[in-house]
Order: sequence, then structure tokens, then C-alpha cells
Amino acid sequence: MSYNIAIDGPAGAGKSTIAKAVAKKLSFVYVDTGAMYRAMALYMIREGVDPADAEAISKKCQTAEITIGYVNGEQQVYLNGENVTAFLRTEEVGNMASATSVQPAVRTKLVELQKALAAKVDCVMDGRDIGTCVLPDAQVKIYLTASSQVRAKRRYDELTAKGQTCDLEQIKADIEDRDYRDMHREHSPLRQAEDAVLVDSSDMTIQEVIDCILKLCAK
Ligand code: DC
Repeated sequence: MSYNIAIDGPAGAGKSTIAKAVAKKLSFVYVDTGAMYRAMALYMIREGVDPADAEAISKKCQTAEITIGYVNGEQQVYLNGENVTAFLRTEEVGNMASATSVQPAVRTKLVELQKALAAKVDCVMDGRDIGTCVLPDAQVKIYLTASSQVRAKRRYDELTAKGQTCDLEQIKADIEDRDYRDMHREHSPLRQAEDAVLVDSSDMTIQEVIDCILKLCAK
């Protein structure tokens, strides 16, 4: 049986940085499920689909084949065979992913892929519904969060370091909108699983969070 660690939490809580480091330390595979929802969103943007049109999204879903692979240990996401990893981390794609991931057709397709992956390999998987829906039997479940102010500042620093101009207040507003949508959607909303450990990283360094999770895994 494979060993699975589920890390859920809102946008910008540091899930991917932490999950990646924990996976490396344990020699597990890191699975970024948000990137899969982003690849699906990129497809919908390219196809000009209205995110509110459930029927159109459900139909388009059938022609989007999402797969993942690894190059030098880094997850790559393929959309109908094209490596789209480099196009996924924009605010536009993130907002579209939040909007389209409310649709059951999108979720059903991606959850199936995630479950199949986790059954095969020891992994650290991060997302919104991993502990609650995708891997209810994960050996370790973490709900990683931080205040919206701290999360907005982290995203702002990340984007400015890449040379992008951005507005801190706008990022904070986007994060709060996304939180609301992710937490209030009908299907698999973001919530802490009953058996998940809450970690608030607002006043913690990355290393402190990593150590805290590794300690929980060792128990
Ligand atoms: O973690 P992220 O910012 O890359 O995720 C982008 C969007 O995808 C997020 O707003 C909600 C959706 N998502 C989801 O619904 N379920 C997941 N397991 C992961 C992401």
C-alpha cells in the first residue's frame, strides 16, 4: 500500500513550497493538483468557454486530456500532449481555475486521475479537497493556512521577484474572492478534514512548517 500525505488549504498558504520540500525529504512524489485544475482552465480560456456555462464546460472537458509527468523531479502538466506547465501560474489562469473547478465534470475527471496516481506511489499531494475527497484514507492530513494579508504579501513578493508589476490590494481582493468561491462551492468545497492537523503559517518560517509536518509524519 502506498503512503499518502494530504495537504489542503487556501491559495497562497505555501502548500506547494512546503509539499515539495516534504516530498523531497521523504523521497516521495509531489503531486500539485492545482496545476491540473489550472491546465483544464487554460484549455477553457483557449477555447473561449464561459466559466459559468456548466454545459459547455462539461462538453469541453471530454476533449481535454490532462496527464502529468516528471522532468528532473519537477512535475510537468500536459494538455492534450502539449507541456503547458510554463503557462499555468498566471493570475488569469488561477482565477479561471477557481471558477471552472466548481463544475462537477471537471472535478470528476481530475479526482479520478489523482486517486489512480496516489494508489501507485508514495506521494505528498496538495490541493483543496485532498484530505476530504481524493485521499480520505491518507496517513497524514494537514490543513495549511495563513491570514489573507500574509498570503497576499507572499504572492506579491513572488510576482515582483519575477519582474511582474502588480498591486498588493488587488491581489488580496483576488485571494479573498478565490477563498470564498473555493469554500462555498457546492461540490468538494475547501474545508479542513475532521482528522487533519491545522497548521497556521502566518508567523512561521518555511523551515518551521516543514519540520512541523515531518514530525507529524514520523509519529
Ligand atoms: O492551488 P492553486 O492556486 O494552483 O489552485 C487553482 C484553483 O484550482 C483553486 O482556486 C481551486 C482549484 N483547485 C481545486 O478546486 N481543487 C484542488 N484539489 C486544487 C485546486
